[in-house]
Amino acid sequence: MSQLFHPMQLRSLAARNRIFVSPMCMYSAVAGTVQDWHLVHLGGLAVGGAGLVMAEATAVLPEGRISPDDAGLWTDAHVAAWQPVTRFIRQHGAIAAVQLAHAGRKASTAAPWQGGKPVTAADGGWQTLGPSPIAFGAYPEPRAMTLADIDAVVAAFVAATQRALVAGFQCVEIHAAHGYLLHHP
Ligand SMILES: Cc1cc2nc3c(=O)[nH]c(=O)nc-3n(C[C@H](O)[C@H](O)[C@H](O)COP(=O)(O)O)c2cc1C
Repeated sequence: MSQLFHPMQLRSLAARNRIFVSPMCMYSAVAGTVQDWHLVHLGGLAVGGAGLVMAEATAVLPEGRISPDDAGLWTDAHVAAWQPVTRFIRQHGAIAAVQLAHAGRKASTAAPWQGGKPVTAADGGWQTLGPSPIAFGAYPEPRAMTLADIDAVVAAFVAATQRALVAGFQCVEIHAAHGYLLHHP
């Protein structure tokens, strides 16, 4: 018989089944702050019976956002907005998880329904950072990171992880794929 609906223990976390919702960017946050949209979207998936609900790629620094509308955990002010979301997910029996992210040279792009292309500084975008000044395809050149930039990114992942715990998340995933900053193809 399928194990899909059987509980699974992950260290101290007990998932009621093996249905784990993938993180999905919603492009619906305001300056990194999640909105009612996130409560309804993620909460609905918990009510639907998933064992674990992973919140979208959540930026550890503002320049690490894929789009200006990404969720964030780069300031303590973001924590309070996440708390009702994680509380609701947990009240409805799912594990509350979050994916922490830095989009590197693929940051500063528009939401898919706004074309998905790089956003210039004039339109609310920003200078991206990368391990070298080599651009991703036709995207603008990133600024090559210094050792101090790298230290700052490491510290930001640590700080965002600590904020995630205060926000009520029980599990953190590091986004190291899709050509973002930590992805080494
Ligand atoms: C709307 C949407 C948003 C997504 N956002 C993220 C994301 O924030 N982080 C991530 O790692 N993957 C993201 N993905 C990729 C999915 O997590 C998943 O890996 C992908 O859809 C492949 O899984 P599937 O074959 O089950 O669809 C997104 C996918 C969709 C459709």
